Amino acid sequence: MIPGLGGRLAFGGDYNPEQWPEETWDEDVALMREAGVTMVTLGVFSWGLLEPSEGVYEFGWLDRIVEKLAAAGIAIDMATATASPPAWFTHAYPHTRLVDDHGVVRSFGARQNYCPSSPEYRRAAAALALQLAQRYADHPAVVLWHVNNEYGCHNWHCFCDVSAAAFRQWLEVRYGTLDALNESWGTAFWSQHYTDWQQIDPPRAVAYNTFANPGHQLDWWRFSSDELLDCYRAEVEAIRPIVTQPITTNFMNFFKPLDYWQWAREVDVVANDHYLRGEDPANLQDLAMSADLMRSLGGGRPWLIMEHSTSAVNWQPRNLAKTPGQMRRNSFQHVARGSDGAMFFQWRASRAGAEKFHSALVPHAGRDSKVWREVVELGSDLARVAEVAGTVVEPASVAIMFGWPSWWAATLDSHPSVDADPLRETRAWHQALWERNVAIDFVEPGTDLTGRKLAVVPMQYLLDDAALASLHAYVEGGGSVVVTYFSGIVDERDHIRLGGYPAGISDLLGARVEEFFPLPEGEAVALSTLGSGRVWSEWISADGSEVVASFSAGPLAGRPAVTCKPTAGGAAWYVGTELSDAGRAALLDRVLAGAGVEPVVGGLPSGVEVVRRRGDGVGFLFVMNHGDEAVDVPYEGTDLLTGTAGPVTKVPAGGVAVIRGTA
Ligand code: GLA
Repeated sequence: MIPGLGGRLAFGGDYNPEQWPEETWDEDVALMREAGVTMVTLGVFSWGLLEPSEGVYEFGWLDRIVEKLAAAGIAIDMATATASPPAWFTHAYPHTRLVDDHGVVRSFGARQNYCPSSPEYRRAAAALALQLAQRYADHPAVVLWHVNNEYGCHNWHCFCDVSAAAFRQWLEVRYGTLDALNESWGTAFWSQHYTDWQQIDPPRAVAYNTFANPGHQLDWWRFSSDELLDCYRAEVEAIRPIVTQPITTNFMNFFKPLDYWQWAREVDVVANDHYLRGEDPANLQDLAMSADLMRSLGGGRPWLIMEHSTSAVNWQPRNLAKTPGQMRRNSFQHVARGSDGAMFFQWRASRAGAEKFHSALVPHAGRDSKVWREVVELGSDLARVAEVAGTVVEPASVAIMFGWPSWWAATLDSHPSVDADPLRETRAWHQALWERNVAIDFVEPGTDLTGRKLAVVPMQYLLDDAALASLHAYVEGGGSVVVTYFSGIVDERDHIRLGGYPAGISDLLGARVEEFFPLPEGEAVALSTLGSGRVWSEWISADGSEVVASFSAGPLAGRPAVTCKPTAGGAAWYVGTELSDAGRAALLDRVLAGAGVEPVVGGLPSGVEVVRRRGDGVGFLFVMNHGDEAVDVPYEGTDLLTGTAGPVTKVPAGGVAVIRGTA
């Protein structure tokens, strides 16, 4: 919830007036009013214009557009403008340029070409942020501060010497002694023992056809996420003493390089950028999963979709346009899942530059266009449902565990199969739940799971002791759990937990894995029930658990594939392969029934998505009908979009309803 918006939902987008002659600006503001825009993000890529040479600031143009927006009642999400250092900066400080793992220096000419560990970059960024804060902190139109932009999008790792020195310092803090580091990285292997901190480099390209030390690589991912977080902190420290508005930066959904559980603790409101992959047949589920993650990162509080697109993007191989009504449904999917608004990239489609084929609120075709008509419609729809601002999505009874260090470690090289992918496995389980309209939260490994009815642990390869303890406490307290293959294999150092996988929880599960039997590419293995498995099989012994399905072909024929151990008040399931969608669905029916998990609204046809937000004594049922036929939704209340009241709401094909009912 953004207090400065006065109860309105955020609706608007990145506004880059500097790309246009000033004569356009009055028309921009008039169009924003026509569309019901409530907030724009200003200045994201304006560093070069705001500071044309070092320490020389020019705010005149920004002052003028700020006043025009303010006079029109449009709120401002003020960017600190530090996402892309200008040419003069890179020229003056050539050591700030990004260096890749082969030592190649990356050139100026796109965006975000800076080393995250560079003290020059951090100092310059904080200085510009401070100037902006001093100038606009007291401006009543400024309601939010947008630090930088999409940290790490193009510079997630830098292998330069400055980074190397910072990495050594980071390691000294983490380990204290070289002995501890050597132990953690297992350097007795391949004669990798370090005797001086100076011997440690970033994991740059190594000898041909071999593998770098996994502990070294895993710490590099941790370090790189931390370095970018330090960049964010440097700007926040500069502006926090001056500004009173909330401060944020925009995340990029399941972005591998940044551990967003850590980042989320440092933003005042979680903000996210999500773009549909046009060619992904399940892209609506991908959107829902991203939104569920963002809400969960913020502990269930409202968050904000900072960027999505009105139609096509420009950076996919084939950029598919949105069909009529799709943008509206997408926007409402985000709002349903807790976003207090719907923001876009960008306000006016560019005429020049690398993003000129990216859609916008004002398309190249102008007002007489499908996109503009839909934008105006969305603006008035969001105004109609403004009372949902600040309400929360009800906490889900199902939690999916997802950790970044586990993702990093699971996808390192020299593993049993290149096909084992924790994100795909996570997505598959989310999708099966989403298709049933079961509410889902994500949880960080180690989180207290009390109160959940079901926890899903999809290929969480690295589980530290805290994560194991929380799983034990939860299952012993009566919770049900589904753990899938290649989970709980290592500790936080990427050391194998010995004694049969997953050693720390195999007693809970009643399943002990002796040996992995990954499958050849593209091959499936038949199961006695639940269809077939892909990617993986393994030698499982069931101990005190029911064998739900067994492998029925190949070297493991007759051995368990899926097991279930009854527990204090629930059940602990173990799945030793990647199930087919149908098999997973069939298993989930049993799991959900046993755990007593209900959908938000049951009995709806496939393609109808429902989510409930709750306020004080009031509930808002969001219905997004992605299907081709109208649907009757049984939920007593009034559709805020049409004003129709009744026990059942008819939602047309491709339509949306927001039914205000009792909580
Ligand atoms: C990101 C960036 C924007 C723009 C869009 C294009 O979200 O933040 O500046 O490049 O992608 O989709």
